[in-house]
Amino acid sequence: MTKLLVLHGPNLNLLGTREPEIYGSLTLAEIDRRLEEAAFERGVEVYSIQSNHEGVLIDALHEAATKADGVIFNPGGYTHTSVALRDAVAAIGIPVVEVHLSNVYAREAFRKKSLIAPVCQGRITGFGWRSYLLALEALWGAE
Ligand code: DQA
Repeated sequence: MTKLLVLHGPNLNLLGTREPEIYGSLTLAEIDRRLEEAAFERGVEVYSIQSNHEGVLIDALHEAATKADGVIFNPGGYTHTSVALRDAVAAIGIPVVEVHLSNVYAREAFRKKSLIAPVCQGRITGFGWRSYLLALEALWGAE
């Protein structure tokens, strides 16, 4: 069975109460549940990890290289700063899709830059929790 890591970066554990006008009112657990359901319908097994720590995210990416067939990754604020996460994505040799709940292009200038997107298969930004769903569709949708 195809296996997928859904990796959530810093502060995403606060979804539901964190700036809901920007990020919506769903909790991370609810997003994971919806995604799991959608993945199951496509014959894809999902496991989710959230961390506020860069090194833990890097370890999860390394582990995914042998454990998963692809990654849906919301690097949160590290999107705009982390060379180490970019290097990890480039190193693992499985497709990674960068996702964001908010439309980062419609926000502060510093959010327009991603160090990670250039080493990803693609990027989806601005569709709320459905950004994750669209990433699933992009990688494992119907032919
Ligand atoms: C985010 C966008 C980032 O700029 C921000 O730092 C986040 C969330 C999003 O999903 O919209 O933490 O990745």
